[in-house]
Amino acid sequence: MEIITDIAPLRARLQCETSIALVPTMGNLHTGHLSLVQIARQRAGCTVVSIFVNRLQFAPHEDYDCYPRTQENDCRLLEESGVDIVFIPSEKILYPVPQEFQLLLPPVADTLEGACRPGFFRGVTTVVLKLFNIVQPHVAVFGEKDYQQLQIVRRMVTQLNLSVDIVAGQTIRAEDGLALSSRNNYLDVIQRQKAGELVRSLRKIGESIVSGNRNFPQLEWSAIEQLNMHGWKVDYVAVRQQCTLLPATVCDSGLVILGAAWLDKVRLIDNLLLAPS
Ligand code: PAJ
Repeated sequence: MEIITDIAPLRARLQCETSIALVPTMGNLHTGHLSLVQIARQRAGCTVVSIFVNRLQFAPHEDYDCYPRTQENDCRLLEESGVDIVFIPSEKILYPVPQEFQLLLPPVADTLEGACRPGFFRGVTTVVLKLFNIVQPHVAVFGEKDYQQLQIVRRMVTQLNLSVDIVAGQTIRAEDGLALSSRNNYLDVIQRQKAGELVRSLRKIGESIVSGNRNFPQLEWSAIEQLNMHGWKVDYVAVRQQCTLLPATVCDSGLVILGAAWLDKVRLIDNLLLAPS
């Protein structure tokens, strides 16, 4: 495995490759990330993983400074996973001058995560577009764990005519259902015991829908109330259409139930896809 930190040597190294798969990450890798690596390896002859904690997608009050940086361990995991190249640029390499050019995003980026974290998706799409331009992958793999991010990247690729296939990887979970996330590291022992409640409340909504309850606002409201009663501070619980992320209406199939909530200072997000009936 090669570790490359600059753009020119990366481009030179990739020139001879006929199929490249990229997995963009911010590091502190876990089994969820590594599952995307396995998908990438099946899709292309050369797998590139990028590790870059992207300041642009963090608001000033967010956790950019304390976001876990575990490069040595990440590289060991990637080597064991059969990755060909790890791209680890510094901020100076990726943003040598202030990043003045950024994308104008569609309304889907203003809802859910976008409403709670203004500017977040602009930061994400900017760095992802830069990584696509640098690596020029044929395939890029993103996790369903960040479902809105996945859908926005898909739209960017379609609307800007980028020639990269976006492939989705399923959410990998701990035994109690908690979606693996670098931010789980922030949970103390008691919070970790509670953390599975978020996905359990999404599952409860899913079961109600499957058994015929289409009163989505009521389902959302009672989940929010339950979580709040159990010590969570809920940003949103929402039943949406998978493709558009618009509020689901009674006749829709192909739904996704999304949730974001705080346990003290730790913010967790999750979602559950309901197969079209
Ligand atoms: P990061 O949070 O490091 O996640 C990198 C990729 O791993 C994303 O596609 C995310 O959806 C996926 N992922 C995270 N947890 C997962 C899990 N439990 N199961 C499956 N996949 C999981 O998402 C980002 O970084 C950044 O926004 C990035 C796209 C790299 C742009 O900076």
